[in-house]
Amino acid sequence: TEVVSHLLAEAFSSCGDLAEAMRQVCRRLEGAFTLVAVHADAPDVVVGARRNSPLVVGVGEGESFLASDVAAFIAHTRSAIELGQDQVVEARRDGVTVTDFDGAPAEVRSYHVDWDASAAEKDGYASFMLKEIAEQPKAVADTLLGRIDAEGALTLDEVRIPAAVLREADKVVIVACGTAFHAGLIAKYAIEHWTRLPCEVELASEFRYRDPILDRRTLVVAISQSGETMDTLMALRHAREQGAKVLAICNTNGSTIPRESDAVLYTHAGPEVAVASTKAFLTQLVACYLVALYLGQRRGTKWGDEIRDVIRDLGRIAGEVERVLATMEPVRALARTLKDKRTVLFLGRHVGYPVALEGALKLKELAYMHAEGFAAGELKHGPIALVEPDLPVVVVVPSPRGRSVLHGKIVSNIQEIRARGARTIVIAEEGDEAVVPYADHLIRIPATPTLLQPLVATVPLQVFACELATARGNEVDQPRNLAKSVTVE
Ligand code: M6R
Repeated sequence: TEVVSHLLAEAFSSCGDLAEAMRQVCRRLEGAFTLVAVHADAPDVVVGARRNSPLVVGVGEGESFLASDVAAFIAHTRSAIELGQDQVVEARRDGVTVTDFDGAPAEVRSYHVDWDASAAEKDGYASFMLKEIAEQPKAVADTLLGRIDAEGALTLDEVRIPAAVLREADKVVIVACGTAFHAGLIAKYAIEHWTRLPCEVELASEFRYRDPILDRRTLVVAISQSGETMDTLMALRHAREQGAKVLAICNTNGSTIPRESDAVLYTHAGPEVAVASTKAFLTQLVACYLVALYLGQRRGTKWGDEIRDVIRDLGRIAGEVERVLATMEPVRALARTLKDKRTVLFLGRHVGYPVALEGALKLKELAYMHAEGFAAGELKHGPIALVEPDLPVVVVVPSPRGRSVLHGKIVSNIQEIRARGARTIVIAEEGDEAVVPYADHLIRIPATPTLLQPLVATVPLQVFACELATARGNEVDQPRNLAKSVTVE
């Protein structure tokens, strides 16, 4: 960018027009960039340009805004313009002009941002993260809104992928990063169980480098809160080049990932400001369940009444999350007692395994502690050697209903680690008495169908990480070394 500013100064001195100078410079640049320039000799204009990196424009009354995310200007205007790839915008008080890098006028898409301006304020909470954790019941309920018709069938109107393509798909591939990747890992269980389609989940940053097998019958699902994660964007571009259809699950209207996908299912979490993803994760899960059910509906692997049953269960989740949030004081107190620990391990099985990974990620990024998630069945293959007296180990326990084999197995895992001195922190369903003798700390969650359990089991882990980080004196909304949207590879 330092070189760019010199190039701009040089071009401006010969053409005298900042937007034209920007276009001349952009034509010479390679790679990904978002540039915003002002010049002392052009006082009434701000010029922006983008390639492979986000820039949105806000159009107010007598004022214009350039930002990487609409959350930055929704307190001033909710009228936004998507800036396309390789475009230059000239923003003035009385409006904006958009061209491509050659100066040809560009067709712009304006849209209304329906996020509430107060959503980008802390509203009395100590941090955005605490506020966003508290907003989860609403976010979950909003993401279900308008997606079910009077007969209880799913109406995912946004999924413009033709029914025949969905019926004939022979594989689902999910690409995502970080927390969104964990949502994808959970989605795999639902997709395979409800549709009998094989589903692979891949870290977007690894995807295109291993020459993945994709064709017209592959449905790729790209999950991203921001819609700007470069690794995920590159993965979806690669998938489309191979002929695959891409469905995005995204929280940010007008962002690049949905724009470049064949279809999009928006989550309705509202703006997520804290770097650590919380409400976006829960809504990504809801969207993944909807996609899995929709595939089941289209492919005829799920009967209408089965779909209605799951939808009814999903409809109850907002209330269950509310109940979990109301019982978090002991979790906060426990977190404070662990502030001087060096390591915390997280264990889970089945859908509880990605929940364990998510719990560990939250602790790493917020508390800067060594935290690792494992599939509990893997313990004996290595990780159990890490267990030492008083090591905190969080275990996510699946439902005991139906005398689940899995439940019995995880109870043995808890016994194994406790016998080696671990301090067990057990997250288990209300009424699960089998875990009580082996839990040093017991965190209760409401009984939910197994596949939906992550929606309630993740919440205590978010609260735990947030409180522990605060007790360690860390800034929870802006953890060190991290950015909210990772727009570089
Ligand atoms: O915007 P995205 O959902 O694509 O972001 C993906 C990850 O960067 C993100 O989930 C990250 O892992 C969070 N900070 C985790 O809390």
